Amino acid sequence: MTSAEDRLPAPTELAQVEGWFFPVDQVLFDWFLTRQVSRTEPGDLLEVGAYLGKSAIFMGSYLREGDTFTVCDLFDAPAEDNANSAEMKKSYPTLTRHSFEANYLSFHDELPEVVQGMSSTVRDRVQPVSCRFAHIDASHLYEHVHADIETSRELLHPHGVVALDDYRSAHCPGVAAAVWQAVTSGGLHAICVTESKMYATWGDPAEIRAELLTYVSGRADLWHEVQTVAGAPLLRVKGDRDRTVSPSQPPSRHAPAAAQAPDQTAGQTAAQTAEHAESAAARAAGPAGRAESQAPTAASPAAPAPRRSRARRLLVNVLPPIITKALVRIRDSRRAGA
Ligand SMILES: C[S@@+](CC[C@H](N)C(=O)[O-])C[C@H]1O[C@@H](n2cnc3c(N)ncnc32)[C@H](O)[C@@H]1O
Repeated sequence: MTSAEDRLPAPTELAQVEGWFFPVDQVLFDWFLTRQVSRTEPGDLLEVGAYLGKSAIFMGSYLREGDTFTVCDLFDAPAEDNANSAEMKKSYPTLTRHSFEANYLSFHDELPEVVQGMSSTVRDRVQPVSCRFAHIDASHLYEHVHADIETSRELLHPHGVVALDDYRSAHCPGVAAAVWQAVTSGGLHAICVTESKMYATWGDPAEIRAELLTYVSGRADLWHEVQTVAGAPLLRVKGDRDRTVSPSQPPSRHAPAAAQAPDQTAGQTAAQTAEHAESAAARAAGPAGRAESQAPTAASPAAPAPRRSRARRLLVNVLPPIITKALVRIRDSRRAGA
């Protein structure tokens, strides 16, 4: 049986995959996942709630040789309780596993480990203390989200990070209740929040919090502040629809040849073009190369790579002067130390 999603044309870029994964969260996923790769922190990836694959496709780019990526979703399988069935019928009536898999394979050579079923089954499929990053974005019902959060406690390494969607949305107060309960009395340490997601760890949050604050402070395209919540610092980060530069996206095999070697085109800023070109080079060098080239720094989201590319010249031309000055300072100090 085909669904509306199955009849969608093959995506030529990630932006065409329907879903709820916004630029500021892409920046943060990129930062957390790249940091883990650059620190060679062990662990697999997990997503609970994939829909048509937007965030899963993005996460799939951060897999290293030997890492496993488990993706759990009901897709077109029935939920086990009436409230969840009603939620599925209302929000995702035509979703199929086939449409997720077709989208995913537009961007990656291999599917992740797909668990089609209730998120409660993930515990039986993933080893305890085996994951470094978990994205929880499935049911909106308190009982399910509470259980998914407990699963993340069991499956994540102490250095692991959990991203929790809809922690504050008016349409799903059960998610907010489960998330804040875990933070205020369950031992979960919130690191930062965006408008859509909370990022947290069951381990020691001090170092990662401080590093993330330094990183966002250096990004002119993100707004941030630190509040104290339940006795701990909590970083609030906001993107700007017109200014926030998304990290490079995995290329689609359906993209026209010209788009696979991007130039400055409508809807894409020069900075994005430059960042894409730099990231493509890093991707070509493999995960280690990517980690090195994209290692977050306080200077800029696209801190200078050691080589001088056309992309880099472009980048310097379009960045705000404060960032350009920081780039020049870094270059000069490198030269002085050479
Ligand atoms: C908000 S969507 C996920 C969006 C996706 N992460 C993205 O970035 O586009 C929520 C997904 O959770 C799935 N879902 C809902 N209840 C679930 C449950 N109890 N177990 C597993 N998946 C569930 C739905 O099928 C839907 O695909």
